[in-house]
Amino acid sequence: MAPPTHMKDAECSCRRQGHKRPRKGPGRSRGVRPMFSTGLADRFFSSSASSSRKLDGKVAVITGAASGIGEATAKEFVRNGAKVIIADIQDDLGRAVAAELGADAASYTHCDVTVEKDIAAAVDLAVARHGRLDVVYSNAGIPGAAAPPTLAALDLDDYDRVMAVNARSMVACLKHAARVMSPRRAGCILCTASSTAVIGDLAAPAYCVSKAAVVGMVRSVARRLARDGVRVNAISPHAIPTPMALGIMSETFPAATAEEVRRMVTREMQELEGASLEVEDVARAAVFLASDEAKFVTGHNLVVDGGFTVGKDLLRNPPSST
Ligand SMILES: NC(=O)c1ccc[n+]([C@@H]2O[C@H](COP(=O)([O-])OP(=O)(O)OC[C@H]3O[C@@H](n4cnc5c(N)ncnc54)[C@H](O)[C@@H]3O)[C@@H](O)[C@H]2O)c1
Repeated sequence: MAPPTHMKDAECSCRRQGHKRPRKGPGRSRGVRPMFSTGLADRFFSSSASSSRKLDGKVAVITGAASGIGEATAKEFVRNGAKVIIADIQDDLGRAVAAELGADAASYTHCDVTVEKDIAAAVDLAVARHGRLDVVYSNAGIPGAAAPPTLAALDLDDYDRVMAVNARSMVACLKHAARVMSPRRAGCILCTASSTAVIGDLAAPAYCVSKAAVVGMVRSVARRLARDGVRVNAISPHAIPTPMALGIMSETFPAATAEEVRRMVTREMQELEGASLEVEDVARAAVFLASDEAKFVTGHNLVVDGGFTVGKDLLRNPPSST
């Protein structure tokens, strides 16, 4: 991870925004107390600067970044000063995202996360192109088939596919991120889990198991990597209307219109009133965890679910209270 740059940033930011340091001596009018002491003002401007470009100088690989959460995260990372490698199997979409972000900030590489050498190559590409690697965000995922009517009907081939993309790939990302980061004694690894990792049976069994495995993996390696100065965290979003979520809901409820499916995901599956969960909310959580502001946060599962998993109704069918 890059050395803290906040003081340098603060100075640049003050200059960029036209702020001038209060001059000492006769230049300052007597009897008027400055709003902040110089030290406090410096810290104030320092924190505004670091909050505007939290990832200045960092280099990240993001899997599944051609669409949805990964795409939004690539954009948010670049907005915060990072350079990103977009790793995905949707080549046209991935190249378009990279082109939108600009050749200096982003590049696309074909990377099937079920193929270990593709992940190794994406990691090596970041180092070859930018001379360093600070963040690996293992985010690619698939929903698998819709939930079977009974556990007896579970398709184990589908289970294997889902585990390969959602869980085994994250082990490969951890392995190759650590290969580069541990010798540098710095780095940050993020993995997309899900609210289905927190509460059982919210989705098809294979998907729930794969996401629980992601959180388990993060916990299993965080202490070991902490000794190398590398942080590892999971992010668990709840339902967001990305192609993946809309696709699996349409498959599960084939009679529902596109509008009804979107409403299920954005309203009926949510608890928090007055806000809706968007890919940018997850992207900003990733920016925080990847930034030096989270320098002591590791082994954590940051749940972004508007309170969905914190509670449950006590009664399955409560009697009417009227
Ligand atoms: N959308 C949700 O409701 C939701 C909720 C919780 C967790 N998640 C998780 O968020 C992550 C991103 O999903 P999303 O919702 O943005 O969906 P998405 O379909 O928009 O994006 C998933 C991306 O992963 C890529 N991908 C799939 N298989 C791949 C492979 N083998 N190799 C490389 N890339 C591959 C796809 O091409 C796509 O670009 C997934 O891990 C998903 O399980 C999503």
